[in-house]
Amino acid sequence: MSGEPNAAYAVDQFRDEQAEVERLKKQAIFLATQEDAALREVGLLDDGALLDIGCGPGFVAGRLVASRPGLTVTGVDRDATLIARATEAVPGARFVQGVAHELPFADDQFDGAMSRLVFRHLPNVTASLREARRVVRPGGRLVLVDTDDDALLLHPSPAGFREVLAARQETAQRRGANPFIGRELTTHLRTAGFEDIRLSLINISTVMIGAPAFAKIVLAPIADGVDEDLATPETVKAAAGALGAWSREPVFGLTTAFVASGVSPKV
Ligand SMILES: C[S@@+](CC[C@H](N)C(=O)[O-])C[C@H]1O[C@@H](n2cnc3c(N)ncnc32)[C@H](O)[C@@H]1O
Repeated sequence: MSGEPNAAYAVDQFRDEQAEVERLKKQAIFLATQEDAALREVGLLDDGALLDIGCGPGFVAGRLVASRPGLTVTGVDRDATLIARATEAVPGARFVQGVAHELPFADDQFDGAMSRLVFRHLPNVTASLREARRVVRPGGRLVLVDTDDDALLLHPSPAGFREVLAARQETAQRRGANPFIGRELTTHLRTAGFEDIRLSLINISTVMIGAPAFAKIVLAPIADGVDEDLATPETVKAAAGALGAWSREPVFGLTTAFVASGVSPKV
């Protein structure tokens, strides 16, 4: 359903599609308080028309509709199945199928836009930023939320995790994606012509959400999206299987989400 067989991220390429949707849901719920504060800090709008690029099953759109009554939210995603799920789950928002590098909207149609955990998967960041700038009116703000695999600290490292993570990173890079995009977000925004750049960081640790939730939300994706010539299915399965045992020990994990924003210049 992705329409791009080699896409770096598509839920229908996960062995257990429903489990991935559940992971996205938990991620949206567990991080809600810190994320809302960071979104405010970087100036996500409270009123007006907001576009959520790569909205997935709509969990974040649903949260925004509930907490910011002045917002009219439109979600766009490449995946028709996720658009159908979001439409059912969030009646207060509108959802449209489309891709980030060719948004199906007229110029200046939105007062602001956001994109959460999407740009790290995109092979065409520059074109996607150009499109976001086109559909957001001059003076409107774009907010990007993303991670950076180098910002992951684990003590100890779960058995086999580093090896499989490296294979997953290489797989993603083969498809033009960038698992290290977090550190580049503000540069991308500046290069694309956005102004008044802001950045807020969200630290997510095992102390904050507990090791089992950390393993499920942050680490579990290593079970999918690894090319077999880089790590065998048995190696991947063993590493993914070790996460449960790891999370029951007195372990520590920390990762950082980068929340960056910029304003589309007035013409
Ligand atoms: C990790 S999920 C994040 C979903 C949602 N933003 C969230 O935070 O829960 C990445 C999403 O980006 C979508 N996606 C990937 N490439 C895309 C593209 N080129 N255009 C639009 N959506 C895309 C996927 O279908 C998926 O729903």
